Amino acid sequence: MDKVRIGIVGSKFAADFHCDSYSRNEHTEVVAVAAIDNLDAIAGKWNIPDTYEDYHEMFKRKDIELISVCVPNFLHHDIVIAASDAGKHVVCEKPLATTIEHGREMIEVCEKNNTKLMYAEDWCFSPALRRAEKLIEEGGIGRLLYVKAKEVHNGTHSMYAKDKKMCGGGSFMHLGIHPVGYLLYLLGRGNNPVVEVTGKMTGGLKRNFVHKENGGEDFGMGMMRFENGEFAFVEGNYITVGGMDDKVEIYGTEGVIKVDLTFGSPIDCYSGPGISYSIEKTNHNLGWTKPAVDEFYNLGYVPELEYFVDCVRKDMKPFYGVNGQAGLSALELIQAFYESNNIGKTVRGRWG
Ligand SMILES: NC(=O)c1ccc[n+]([C@@H]2O[C@H](COP(=O)([O-])OP(=O)(O)OC[C@H]3O[C@@H](n4cnc5c(N)ncnc54)[C@H](O)[C@@H]3O)[C@@H](O)[C@H]2O)c1
Repeated sequence: MDKVRIGIVGSKFAADFHCDSYSRNEHTEVVAVAAIDNLDAIAGKWNIPDTYEDYHEMFKRKDIELISVCVPNFLHHDIVIAASDAGKHVVCEKPLATTIEHGREMIEVCEKNNTKLMYAEDWCFSPALRRAEKLIEEGGIGRLLYVKAKEVHNGTHSMYAKDKKMCGGGSFMHLGIHPVGYLLYLLGRGNNPVVEVTGKMTGGLKRNFVHKENGGEDFGMGMMRFENGEFAFVEGNYITVGGMDDKVEIYGTEGVIKVDLTFGSPIDCYSGPGISYSIEKTNHNLGWTKPAVDEFYNLGYVPELEYFVDCVRKDMKPFYGVNGQAGLSALELIQAFYESNNIGKTVRGRWG
């Protein structure tokens, strides 16, 4: 198959970077978008011919092979299942679902229908993290011992993500799932499960540090230990001002790698009047800033969606880290961190 025809569900933040990524790929054509708002704006920006207010109508089309699910977390389950039942392959944004039961059902249905379920953990495709992986593979830092990883910023833009039920949690679910999912891939590999987790979070609403209107926590951190002995420390919070800060530090027996996904731009800019944009979630861009060269590429979205399109074109199975099972394991781990926080103890099990 030379060209994959795509339908997007969702029309705002994530839908925009999916459209941007597909627009850079000669093997794709975004033919339709379905959402409950912003349809004219997204269709106009990306020249999408058809729009739908009800995604079921879009799924009836025979010419669409792949659906990008870019809607609030609580809708992933119903939309992935409806898309798969209509015979479509699916890219599902993170987290896979808001409950473990829903995640399991999504995997089962996609398997039964023989449709691909591709889990969009973009960190697995970040060019900087991919380069780090090569350095590790060649033995550059020896045996891995400890990884520290975080995604943090000053608060979600999405009204749905502020609602604990619609999000499935707070900042740890919404942001912390990136380092958790990435570490399952980097250290876990599907054969080195996490066996211990300890989580600490703020309590939502009045018990939050800053975002008293958010039902879920605005600060979360966790420690995990893998079966082979490696430790990891992960963070997902909404208390970090000054721009989205995504960092990974990897410590081995003979070396260290530090990756800065968001502030790592080779550009230093000083602007008196201020510039329009530097990186995600900055409040203002006056004075010194670090404008990203290509944010969507740096974060991994562009190569990620190219890979998923290739999975459809060449009928490949997505690798561990970005398949449904890895998405489910990341979700189970987040829930285990919440359990640990709730009972005030380390939780033991096997995840990944
Ligand atoms: N990988 C990443 O780094 C990343 C970044 C941002 C968001 N996301 C994920 O993408 C998803 C969407 O987040 P967002 O930031 O774009 O949210 P958003 O609030 O900006 O947009 C939500 C979209 O969902 C649509 N929607 C809501 N209810 C709908 C329904 N019933 N049917 C069809 N469409 C409906 C709305 O029209 C809107 O376009 C979330 O799961 C989020 O976790 C991932």
